[in-house]
Amino acid sequence: MDIFQALLQSHERQRAICKRLLSGIGDHNERKQALDELRSEMAAHETAEERAFYVPLIEHDDTVDEARHAIAEHHEMDEMVEELDKSKEGSAEWLEMMGKLVHKVGHHLQEEEQKFFPEAKKVLEPRQREELGALYLQEHERLFEKETQ
Ligand SMILES: [Fe+2]
Ligand SMILES: [Fe+2]
Repeated sequence: MDIFQALLQSHERQRAICKRLLSGIGDHNERKQALDELRSEMAAHETAEERAFYVPLIEHDDTVDEARHAIAEHHEMDEMVEELDKSKEGSAEWLEMMGKLVHKVGHHLQEEEQKFFPEAKKVLEPRQREELGALYLQEHERLFEKETQ
């Protein structure tokens, strides 16, 4: 699996969880479970993606700005999750922040896929794409286990 296919797998998982978060809006257990899943998936994905995708992209002049932008967004999303954890689940404030987080995640995934992936394809050689895919999957699995233990 190359790095793009590997990243897309997680993006689809995140989209599915976000959908559940929005649709399970009135159900406490469903919402809590979906948020826990999103938190773990995002944490593992962001770090593995930074190591296996954005670090190599930082090394190229043509993609350094995109990499920097994406990593800054990871940080913003982490802060949004932290804020969400501080407010009372199900409160008006919580629902509003949850909606903003889901919107931000959707924007981030779309920007990566539509803007950054095409740029990255210009600088990453086919063999490197495969190697990075393997590195990403290994890191994601290890980090996800750590998050959910
Ligand atoms: Fe990302
Ligand atoms: Fe991503």
